[in-house]
Amino acid sequence: MINIGVIGYGYWGPNLVRNFGENPDIDVIYVCDRDEVRLANLKSKMPAVKTPVDYMEVLRDDNINLVAIATPVATHYQIAKDALTLGKHVLIEKPMTLNVKQALELIELSKRQGLHIFVDHTYLFTGAVKKIKELYAAGEMGDVLFFDSVRVNLGLFQSDVNVIWDLAPHDFSIMAYLIEKEPTEVSAIGAKRLYDAFEDIAYVTVKFEGGLIAHFHVNWMSPVKIRRIIVGASKKMVVFDDLSADEKIKVYDKGIRLLNNNDNEKSSVYNTLIQYRVGDVFIPKVEAKEALKVEVAHIVDCLKNNATPISDGYTGLRVMKLLEATNLSLSKNGAFVPIG
Ligand SMILES: NC(=O)c1ccc[n+]([C@@H]2O[C@H](COP(=O)([O-])OP(=O)(O)OC[C@H]3O[C@@H](n4cnc5c(N)ncnc54)[C@H](O)[C@@H]3O)[C@@H](O)[C@H]2O)c1
Repeated sequence: MINIGVIGYGYWGPNLVRNFGENPDIDVIYVCDRDEVRLANLKSKMPAVKTPVDYMEVLRDDNINLVAIATPVATHYQIAKDALTLGKHVLIEKPMTLNVKQALELIELSKRQGLHIFVDHTYLFTGAVKKIKELYAAGEMGDVLFFDSVRVNLGLFQSDVNVIWDLAPHDFSIMAYLIEKEPTEVSAIGAKRLYDAFEDIAYVTVKFEGGLIAHFHVNWMSPVKIRRIIVGASKKMVVFDDLSADEKIKVYDKGIRLLNNNDNEKSSVYNTLIQYRVGDVFIPKVEAKEALKVEVAHIVDCLKNNATPISDGYTGLRVMKLLEATNLSLSKNGAFVPIG
């Protein structure tokens, strides 16, 4: 059995506890939170679980193999560092840390300790993202031309991070999973429409070598909820609508091709014909299992077989590099900045 302690039982922690609890290879031994009222609520449902307010109590227990950290972002680094130092594998919520330096330190520490870091980029375990990855890997989509993401709704305002740090990690992780190239530059502009502390609306553009660009619109002020990603590619295009109940992914056999009718004058627009391809729309079947359940099974598999996680410290680091670069770009009014 894998013995687990969950630290942080606010909004997301209960989802982890439920999914860990449902896995037959896992025992949830501890759930820790600073807030005793939240712990009392859990205790009434799961009386056998130990509920300390000090996370060190979890880490000092030699029987614990894995610690899940679902506390606010600013606390991730210290709790993960303490856990790795005391010999625990860690699952860290997204975003992994407050900056790239902290993420690198945790990766180094985990390597020295021979322990796993899992970063909870939950979307990578959705049936939809798995299916899109499969289609690309099978060569059915061709080369990616652009990636366009909209993730907007009214709230939930966060008190410790801006809207990019709250929402874009999902889309950054999906992009990094599908496009296995390193991006080169980032531009981010944002606005603080409600209060002065953090941007609540932002537009982020990411450039890659060879002309591929990605764009992200994240917003806590939108009257409607949209969760949509379009991946344009040379053979087929995919639209992922996460709010659709039974048509999450649509694959369009659509595209545009330039046909030159005079090879000697290739640069002349007058000699170029545009050919549109408007073919069928295909709606593939997508696994309907809860993503966290799939992720928990994957974590068990990695721990049992010492396999490399789909979302490890390096996945978290790639997202952190993008996030850190958006901070710099925001401070330069949207200028493109290199990704470290
Ligand atoms: N993977 C996802 O889809 C997803 C979704 C939502 C949130 N999250 C992430 O989960 C993390 C937590 O977010 P949330 O919305 O649940 O926040 P939250 O504020 O609702 O809950 C955080 C909990 O941590 C507790 N806490 C804070 N410091 C602590 C400490 N030192 N020791 C013990 N408990 C402590 C707080 O009392 C609170 O109950 C964030 O990193 C967030 O980005 C991930």
